[in-house]
Amino acid sequence: MAEPLSICYLNGALLPLREARISPLDRSFLFGDGVYEVVAFHNGYASRLPANIARLKRSLAELRIRNPHGDARWSELVHELAAANGGGDLYVYLQVSRGAEYGRNHAPLPDVEPTVFAFCAPLPAPPAELATQGLACITAQDTRWARCDIKSVALLANVLLRQQAVEAGAAETILLRDGWLTDASASAVHIVVAGEIRTPPRSHQLLPGTTRSLIEEIATANGIACRSVPVSEAALRGAAEIWLSAATRGVAPVTRLDGVSVGDGRPGPLWRRMRALVEASWVRPKGTGGNS
Ligand SMILES: Cc1ncc(COP(=O)(O)O)c(C=O)c1O
Repeated sequence: MAEPLSICYLNGALLPLREARISPLDRSFLFGDGVYEVVAFHNGYASRLPANIARLKRSLAELRIRNPHGDARWSELVHELAAANGGGDLYVYLQVSRGAEYGRNHAPLPDVEPTVFAFCAPLPAPPAELATQGLACITAQDTRWARCDIKSVALLANVLLRQQAVEAGAAETILLRDGWLTDASASAVHIVVAGEIRTPPRSHQLLPGTTRSLIEEIATANGIACRSVPVSEAALRGAAEIWLSAATRGVAPVTRLDGVSVGDGRPGPLWRRMRALVEASWVRPKGTGGNS
């Protein structure tokens, strides 16, 4: 992972990341009581920002954390921070915690002021061999909580599940709950069966990915069959193609699952097509100054 860039945002101010300080009584530190977003900028353009802001609002509402800003201010804040770090290809990590209060109370005190923190880092470059070799993944039982649709900073299960992949020499851990595909530790998962993209339906068991919805929109616009349907473990293991999607990785092909080839063991033709369409969506439409 690349180093974070030098300027961050904290509670209304841009400042050097090295100088940023928050209270140890912040509830995100004591309880993991906060939410986050990851906004990808390609060549200075954040094509999914409206979806990021919509998900942020939803996560805050679900946790009953006061949303400190309107949509326009969120957009401005993210753009100001990206510009302060030189713009270009980067991502903004944006976190809103319920805030710091005096003491440690499970039930939050009323009127706690949310803490807003954001920093930038260069977008990770896809591995050179992605298009020729794809990624190796493992599977594991989904040990996360019952509200995976909320983009909460409480990610202990995701952390342990990703570590399993690292220890197995794999790129990601794909998660199964009671024999059904949910998510990966930090990505959405799509399969391709008979030329059709299948993704598990939105539910409390998985995060509604902004790249997932992009893939769905692209498929619809380009006449590619695409359905939200439950995906069984057998369907996952028998798929012609498996893809991961996330803001910082776009869409990536999985070519080995638990040591077994996916399809013919090479990145598939529909992935190649989708990758090109996803990358085209990252280009700012001509004649628009900012985000739509
Ligand atoms: C569990 C999980 N699912 C899906 C995603 C993909 O979401 P997005 O495409 O908005 O980055 C992520 C991204 O971090 C994630 O952590």
